[in-house]
Amino acid sequence: MTRKNGFQHYKFEVPEIIFGRGLLRQVGSCARRLGATKVFLVSDQGLFEAGWVDLVMKSLQEYGLSFVYFDQITSNPKDYEIESGFREYVASGADVIVGLGGGSVMDAAKGIAILSANGGRIRDYRGSDKIHRPIPPLVLCPTTCGTGSDVSQFAVINDTEQLCKFTIMSRCIAPDISLTDPETLLTLPERHVCSTAIDALAHAVEAYFSVAASSLTDVNALQALRLLADNYARAVREHRIEDLEALSRASLHAGMAFSNALLGIGHALAHPIGGLYNANHGDVNAVLLPEVVKFDYPVVTEKIAGLLNALGCELKGNEEFAEEMAVEVIENLLDAGNSPRGLRTLGVREEDLNNLAKLALQDVCVLTSPRQTDEEDLLGIMKRSF
Ligand SMILES: [Fe+2]
Repeated sequence: MTRKNGFQHYKFEVPEIIFGRGLLRQVGSCARRLGATKVFLVSDQGLFEAGWVDLVMKSLQEYGLSFVYFDQITSNPKDYEIESGFREYVASGADVIVGLGGGSVMDAAKGIAILSANGGRIRDYRGSDKIHRPIPPLVLCPTTCGTGSDVSQFAVINDTEQLCKFTIMSRCIAPDISLTDPETLLTLPERHVCSTAIDALAHAVEAYFSVAASSLTDVNALQALRLLADNYARAVREHRIEDLEALSRASLHAGMAFSNALLGIGHALAHPIGGLYNANHGDVNAVLLPEVVKFDYPVVTEKIAGLLNALGCELKGNEEFAEEMAVEVIENLLDAGNSPRGLRTLGVREEDLNNLAKLALQDVCVLTSPRQTDEEDLLGIMKRSF
């Protein structure tokens, strides 16, 4: 059944966006412009070892800013890590937060910012629009090519008591500045280039199909798809900066699309699966995406030509094969980066599927699915993706 589109009006929110090679040296300038005297810098060990944290620290020093460094964040950031970061933030006396990293680091930086302005536990902010006080100035610098957290109104946190990821959605948590330096992708392991780029692919597809999509989000979703279709396979093969930069741009466009159109059942399922098994988010999306496209297809037929065109396929004359073409072109992209196939390869257990379907149905991303979805539907998608 097609869902009645209740989104008669829309708005399009994005932070100030700074994009270009070598621009990580400008982080100090950005923080200074936001009124910083002392910066709380959130990053991780891998980026420290790659030298990017040092580059940012030097930039902060160059602009006369002191800082406190916090790196106690793991992938799929945990509630207690956010709460520990919050305590360190308060003790530091910092007045601007900078997050340098992938989605986990950036979502953790958002979580720390939420608590610093609003108090309580991070799980108190689960769901939509629960944040009532503005967060401190925030600069986010993505170092992967997929999460879109640097432009989004979302943060995804792992609830370690319920063993489930939950989504926080609020205009308040979009950062003030998104600064992308695509050179950081040169030190990102190939496996993470692939998984994060495929996350961007899932963002673009789900945002394009979303019941909250608008002309402004469609143009960004389709541009992300074009960039991925034209550059992903070569970027994986050759690892040249030109192609990696295109993946960064794809991530940015997909991020702007999904932050405003929101997502669908692929991400609604990916969140509890990632939370329960600590599975790589991009890999979970890769496994689910073909079945999500098949499930959504009956209610998005009028959008398929646009999707195929962006992915380099001509639908005209092949209308009866539209669904197969869409699935095939997406699977070819997944194969170009050797994405995993099958939930079981990610450690998912068959006996958990019923509970995962229940959890996914409560995820905020279900709200913008183009097709009315129930627990049985979600279970079916996981079984067909198993
Ligand atoms: Fe995602």
